[in-house]
Amino acid sequence: MSDVNRIPTHIEGLDENMQGGIPKKHICIVAGASGAMKSSLTFSLLYNSVLYGDTSGIYVTLEQGKESLKSHMSNMGMNVEDARVRNRIAIIDLADLRVQLDEQGMSDRVDWMGQLIKQLTSYRNSIGFEVLVFDSLGAFFTLTKMENPRDEIFRLFEAVRRLNLTAFFICEMTGDDHKQFGEYGVEDYLSDGVLHLVMEREGDDVKRKLGVVKMRHTNHMLGYKPFWWKEDEQRFSVL
Ligand SMILES: Nc1ncnc2c1ncn2[C@@H]1O[C@H](COP(=O)(O)OP(=O)(O)O)[C@@H](O)[C@H]1O
Ligand SMILES: [Mg+2]
Repeated sequence: MSDVNRIPTHIEGLDENMQGGIPKKHICIVAGASGAMKSSLTFSLLYNSVLYGDTSGIYVTLEQGKESLKSHMSNMGMNVEDARVRNRIAIIDLADLRVQLDEQGMSDRVDWMGQLIKQLTSYRNSIGFEVLVFDSLGAFFTLTKMENPRDEIFRLFEAVRRLNLTAFFICEMTGDDHKQFGEYGVEDYLSDGVLHLVMEREGDDVKRKLGVVKMRHTNHMLGYKPFWWKEDEQRFSVL
């Protein structure tokens, strides 16, 4: 598969070690504990793809509101008010989703997943974005009190596959169980790729590390490498 069919992560040292990036149309999981920088890393991927490529994307933020997300990214040195970024990254939070639902007058017994899929499809058709970030699956299921998350994840992933875009689903991990990357036990096997961010304690210090656990159609580095944010370059590095 040539580089043309990949989306670079813009993480220094990573793209070189995964044939240029993530194959387009892949569904990827970005997993890690709270504070592991899942949102930052995924947003920076989208941010840099927009600035240095033709990509456009949607960032669905359910863990935190739109303003909080933007202020975090801006504190990290990313210029979220840049016209290119504003025009090419649509940030959607729970308040936006709720407004849409209220407009449709069905806030009581909502088929949240059906509505979400409908909205993503309509965004896809109207703005034609290519990258979807969903932050996070856990937040969506908690907020919507969904009874059967596993079935709903099947449904969501199937629908996203039909939309023909590259998707990143953020999954919060609790505990040290490195065998399961999602909360519901199906996310990692339904996905094409898994990026795992860990915070390792060494004495009183904590080191951040990144591992590519799985990336279909890709010869990628194995093992966990330290990573950090380069504020002056607005990108992460694993070098
Ligand atoms: N300017 C900054 N530069 C580098 N790291 C930062 C900066 N601001 C915050 N952080 C780190 O980012 C972490 C939060 O990252 P975030 O992407 O929200 O994590 P997650 O989504 O995995 O919970 C904070 O706990 C802090 O350690
Ligand atoms: Mg987050």
